[in-house]
Amino acid sequence: MSQRKLFVTTALPYANGHFHIGHIMEYIQADTWVRAQRMQGHQVNFVGADDAHGAPIMIAAEKAGKTPQQFVADIAAGRQQYLEGFHIAFDNWSNTDSPENHELSKQIYLDLKAAGFIETRTIEQFFDPEKNMFLPDRFIKGECPRCHAKDQYGDNCESCGAVYAPTELIQPFSALSGAKPVLKTSEHFFFKLSDPRAVAFLTEWTQNGQHVQPEVAAKIKEWFGTRTNPDGSTSTGLDDWDISRDAPYFGIEIPDAPGKYFYVWLDAPVGYLASLKNLLNQRGEDYDAYMADPALEQYHFIGKDIITFHTLFWPAMLKFSGRKTPTKICVHGFMTVNNGEKMSKSRGTGLDPLKYLALKMNPEWLRYYLGAKLNGKNEDIDFNAEDFMLRVNADLIGKYVNIASRAAGFIAKRFAGKLGAVAEDGQALLAALRTQKDTIVAAYEARDTARAARDIMLLCDKVNSYVDANKPWELAKQEGMDARLQDVCSTCIEAFRLLTIYLKPMLPAVAEQVEAFLKVQPLQFADAELLLGPGHAIGQYQHLMQRVVIEQLEALFEPPAAPVVEAVKPGGEEIAPTITIDDFAKIDLRIAKIVACQAVEGSTKLLQLTLDVGEGKTRNVFSGIASMYQPEQLVGKLTVVVANLAPRKMKFGLSEGMVLAASHADEKAQPGIYILEPFPGAQPGMRIH
Ligand code: 2FM
Ligand code: ZN
Repeated sequence: MSQRKLFVTTALPYANGHFHIGHIMEYIQADTWVRAQRMQGHQVNFVGADDAHGAPIMIAAEKAGKTPQQFVADIAAGRQQYLEGFHIAFDNWSNTDSPENHELSKQIYLDLKAAGFIETRTIEQFFDPEKNMFLPDRFIKGECPRCHAKDQYGDNCESCGAVYAPTELIQPFSALSGAKPVLKTSEHFFFKLSDPRAVAFLTEWTQNGQHVQPEVAAKIKEWFGTRTNPDGSTSTGLDDWDISRDAPYFGIEIPDAPGKYFYVWLDAPVGYLASLKNLLNQRGEDYDAYMADPALEQYHFIGKDIITFHTLFWPAMLKFSGRKTPTKICVHGFMTVNNGEKMSKSRGTGLDPLKYLALKMNPEWLRYYLGAKLNGKNEDIDFNAEDFMLRVNADLIGKYVNIASRAAGFIAKRFAGKLGAVAEDGQALLAALRTQKDTIVAAYEARDTARAARDIMLLCDKVNSYVDANKPWELAKQEGMDARLQDVCSTCIEAFRLLTIYLKPMLPAVAEQVEAFLKVQPLQFADAELLLGPGHAIGQYQHLMQRVVIEQLEALFEPPAAPVVEAVKPGGEEIAPTITIDDFAKIDLRIAKIVACQAVEGSTKLLQLTLDVGEGKTRNVFSGIASMYQPEQLVGKLTVVVANLAPRKMKFGLSEGMVLAASHADEKAQPGIYILEPFPGAQPGMRIH
């Protein structure tokens, strides 16, 4: 096949959280596919980016006391450790707040407008009367109008995948304040998917068997059908899509519409193109020329929860803005862990990718295990700890790595690292391995890595049977069998090289180690036709992979240790020992009016207060509040005094009571002392109970 030109993406993660295992699964799937393409000599640009916009990120940034840009940058800074850790090799990682994305999103919008696909309409929308803002879809929750799952977001249902207007939710509430939202009007911009041109295009595009998996096409078909609206009326075809949001919003301002922003899902997929453009700019390549090539294929890897956006809105945006439409949308299911709860964007799961790496678990175990489970269909898969251990140990260690470790030692020790010829009975074995190449490549192409893994393991079994039948360890002891020993072991090494080629998309780091050990250039699928050949010198065999041990899995799934609860010290000191109400009654607290106040000569700390405590005479009280208050600030104010404290003789005179004031126990760390002031209505002399 001639060289293909591929542009590949994974869904852009919201930049308000770190990656969870669901993201990693998708990236591993796409990365494996990309590697398999490159191993066929195809040219690939594989890009990702952070999905930066939207109200949830704006609100989270505000909570964190950061600008949204800073907030997104801080999240982005944490991405690399995951990607490197699992050998996920994006060519670029950008974000949707980039200049490229602002420009492209506006241009696409203007092109859609020029083609007659944009319309404005005044709509009623949910408004949070307590927070005083229109509620973003993600901040309205309620029951799904389609499947009746509880606690669903306002824009789409995580349970059945339906997309709807927040006003369709049953028993809605504001997730910001808990208030019942009220309806308020606002002008919104719509993308007219109900336009017959859009309906005709999307019907063909989604149902012609070329762009989505059959099970996905069947699901989409339901959305074109007749459905019953909440008010009892029925609609057919597609609804127009509301693409604008009112300020305050973190997003891209709509041209010629001040205060209106693109809804995050309008500019998010444009982020695919923007990240590509950013990459090509960095390389000094021309984006428009790249996209204009009719041979360019565009692949998007996504999860089943965002099918609508990628199979209806996105292709229609591209088509009617005069751009190239995607070649394929590759949908995967969700991942569950240990038969547990479904993975979801907002709720994590029991498998923490960073913990996995921190425990020094081999990332390629996970790559292989997920590969062995994913079959290219929109189906959920379960990560099961025991199954993981058995599978990885049996397949990768027991079947694959074992072949090299059984043969390499003899070649090094007995033949100075030089390979011999392929034994005659080995020819058939190698031929059997080679004939599987096209099937395995086709399985990778179809993202049916489960099938590829199965086929490769059957080939490993064949090679191991060959070893068992020829028993190199016995040949090694027999007189005059040197040549035979060398040929048998060489056959195994040649076979091992083929198996490594086949596994390389899933096990890129192991393959690299094998390339070093075999002293060969980076392996490509076409290399399966070659032989290392007699006389080729291989290097020293180093063990390629450890077994999974149960302790690692136990540690991985061990719940995080409960944080050590330190005695809470409000204001820097523990609450004093409990007293009874009778103890409290001994302290006579009274409202006092500060009738006069003056600085104390010779003291920087004290102020002298003249207090009226309703006794028909005033009291003289010294108080250590000079650092905080000017005397004139206090005159005329009411405060609280301990009225029955024994008078105290001080350097500056007699103090007849004590004014109450608040301060932190650690004066140096948190300086400041604050006197109390009662609510209006309190009168001098009133007792405080
Ligand atoms: O569902 C999500 O996590 C979105 N941030 C995916 C966006 S994909 C693309 F359109 F950017
Ligand atoms: Zn639902």
